[in-house]
Amino acid sequence: MPLRIVVGLGWGDEGKGKVVDHLAPGSGAVARFSGGANAGHTVKTDGGSVVLHQVPSGMLRPGIAGFIGAGCVLDPVAMLAEMEALSDAGHAVRGRLRVSGSAHLVHPVYRLVEAEEELRRGSRAIGTTGRGIGPAYVRKFGRTGIRLEDAADRSALESMSDALLEEAAGMPGSGPDLANQAAEFVDAAFELSGLASDVGSAIRGMLADGVCVIAEGAQGTLLDPDHGTYPFVTSGSCTAASAFQSLGLGPGPALVTGVMKAYSTRVGAGPFPTELDDPTGGELRRKGREYGATTGRPRRCGWLDAVLMRYSVALNGCSEIALTLLDVLGGFPEIRVCTSYEGLPGGRPVFGRGLSACRPVYETLPGFPEDISGERSWDALPPPARRYVEFVERFCGAPVRLVSTGPHRDDVIRRDV
Ligand code: GDP
Ligand code: IMO
Ligand code: MG
Repeated sequence: MPLRIVVGLGWGDEGKGKVVDHLAPGSGAVARFSGGANAGHTVKTDGGSVVLHQVPSGMLRPGIAGFIGAGCVLDPVAMLAEMEALSDAGHAVRGRLRVSGSAHLVHPVYRLVEAEEELRRGSRAIGTTGRGIGPAYVRKFGRTGIRLEDAADRSALESMSDALLEEAAGMPGSGPDLANQAAEFVDAAFELSGLASDVGSAIRGMLADGVCVIAEGAQGTLLDPDHGTYPFVTSGSCTAASAFQSLGLGPGPALVTGVMKAYSTRVGAGPFPTELDDPTGGELRRKGREYGATTGRPRRCGWLDAVLMRYSVALNGCSEIALTLLDVLGGFPEIRVCTSYEGLPGGRPVFGRGLSACRPVYETLPGFPEDISGERSWDALPPPARRYVEFVERFCGAPVRLVSTGPHRDDVIRRDV
């Protein structure tokens, strides 16, 4: 299937970057279809770890083209800095990357607006990444945003930026520093406008020629504003269906790879039924190095919520699952999985506000003492580890065809199921 969509099934940070990078050889392009600089996608190569925020993950592979879709919101200053850092590390992307002219730009004023909104929410704060993502989507849908294609006209861009500075006058944080950031924004956006392109027609052409394209999601299904744990969500759509919309493709055949962590994590606020605020949660965080790739915040950790995962698999129409960080479960005497809830209004799962009323009911599976880090053979896995994988695929309703056993790009078991 020429189009493969890689999507997160949880609250983000499932290992999408690693999976996309692993799958990239053999494809012609990787296209990011959601979010912006709120994402942090880690790829570990022999040369060390790289965290990609806005540049598509597969671009660390030489010769792979990159696209950024209309559904993304781009911070031009951060984007240029990321491209320069990649180039310094031997991964020049400039000549291979094209960005939809319809993608919206994140102005520095948006970060101020976001900070003020978070303060106003008080104890109901979302715990955003502070990257101006929410206000960028608000402006987009309010029809007052700035698109990359607008940035090609420098004087028009300057007027738009000045109007935003005027709106921000008097807000905490506005002043000379903000004016400097706005000037940097104008320079960077103008420079980036040179990459603006008709991404949809380029991808449609590649697919028609039988060239494989990987659509790379950001965040995760449970952070999707329509289908996630609203209001504790991000502001851009992040399900597989949104890949078509963002990239300018009609709905058509695609192989959907849902990336699922072997346990659950969440950064920021919001309901998390299986969260473990105890030494076991601490052990998951320590072994999985669960600290945000974008903000460095400690991630909240808990057992796998298979009820939510089954929901995400169905919602995305997953063809397969990539189960990541299985190695982190090594050494736990037993592994628990949430397979139902009690205390639900009406007795059925509620994925929005009602989720906080859910109490998880667990099934307990045997653990495995072995360290399976870096294991690349299915047959070499201890039987309880294999049983766990088989349990997950049976319960969630899609085959686990990739098992990740370490952060390195090659720490993967492929299964022919
Ligand atoms: P993404 O946002 O979905 O791309 O995921 P992140 O990069 O934010 O977080 C995933 C973290 O897990 C990163 O630190 C990866 O290097 C790491 N990682 C990915 N797969 C594995 C794995 O199978 N085992 C271990 N131990 N770490 C992994
Ligand atoms: P990747 O692509 C994990 C979370 C934030 C916050 C909520 C809203 O690396 O998986 P935002 O800044 O988007 O308005 O924040 O969404 N969030 C993420 N959590 N991984 C991400 O991206 C995230 N992007 C946003 O922590 O709870
Ligand atoms: Mg991440």
